[in-house]
Amino acid sequence: MKQIDKKRETVLITGASTGIGYELSKIFAQNGYDLIIVARDLRKLMEVEKELREKYGTQVIIINKDLSYPNSAYELYEEVLNLNMNIDILVNNAGAGASGLFHEIDYDIDNKIIQLNMTSLTNLTKLFSKMMIKNKRGKILNVASTGAYQPGPYTAVYYATKAYVLSFSEAIYNELKDYGITVTTICPGATKSEFSKRAGKAQIKGSMEAKKVALAAFLALKKNKRLVIPGIQNKIAIIVSKLLPGNITAKAIRKIQDKLINKTDQH
Ligand SMILES: NC(=O)c1ccc[n+]([C@@H]2O[C@H](COP(=O)([O-])OP(=O)(O)OC[C@H]3O[C@@H](n4cnc5c(N)ncnc54)[C@H](OP(=O)(O)O)[C@@H]3O)[C@@H](O)[C@H]2O)c1
Repeated sequence: MKQIDKKRETVLITGASTGIGYELSKIFAQNGYDLIIVARDLRKLMEVEKELREKYGTQVIIINKDLSYPNSAYELYEEVLNLNMNIDILVNNAGAGASGLFHEIDYDIDNKIIQLNMTSLTNLTKLFSKMMIKNKRGKILNVASTGAYQPGPYTAVYYATKAYVLSFSEAIYNELKDYGITVTTICPGATKSEFSKRAGKAQIKGSMEAKKVALAAFLALKKNKRLVIPGIQNKIAIIVSKLLPGNITAKAIRKIQDKLINKTDQH
């Protein structure tokens, strides 16, 4: 097996095969980091590995893992330990959603979303923050959403998982700073990626480029920021959401989500 150059820092990125995670992988590679990339699609991960190795000379290790299963976070952690590697930066980016009326969405789909977006993210954060505390250095980037600030009819479970990610990450930012570990949360709004299609809805007009979102996340992480909301529109949306009562925000989100779901029905 290839020996990783210990002078270079290593970043573990979940959901690195497409979208924001893929763009983050490229930015970290361009900036001289080595990578462990995680997702389910092995073929795509192999393409990312080849691209980053050939373009930037990055050492990339692939871990093919479905994080929507109980224990998957621990299995991933054990694989990293077996590689005898230290993680300097953990990026909890992998996430998924589903669209439609809550009572009509399959029970199993909800559970997988909760497991992926919340449980695996929490477990990975615990396991790797312990490693970071031992090493007296480390950074964590957690990907939430502007949905963290709003109730989300027609995507209720997804929005609720992101509210959890935001609350959890801000709490441990406060705890881990005592150990020199930073926790940065990014709350993107609609972003061009595979996400909407996979969640069963159309891509909203004016969505941000995944590359821009990834760059905002990278810069915030480097500056040890607690929170980053990329894009002026998203910042305004969050300010408005905080001012309005939840039932009004829920009505507005329901209208938007309904349109997006119906758009896919027509295609
Ligand atoms: N796009 C948006 O509008 C938007 C807005 C706010 C926040 N976000 C958040 O941004 C993050 C990245 O999403 P994206 O927009 O880049 O979407 P994306 O293109 O669908 O990427 C999601 C990534 O997560 C991986 N993934 C999905 N399910 C997984 C599982 N069960 N186990 C392991 N990996 C899994 C996917 O790879 P595989 O399919 O190969 O496993 C892929 O690499 C997510 O947390 C999402 O909630 C997105």
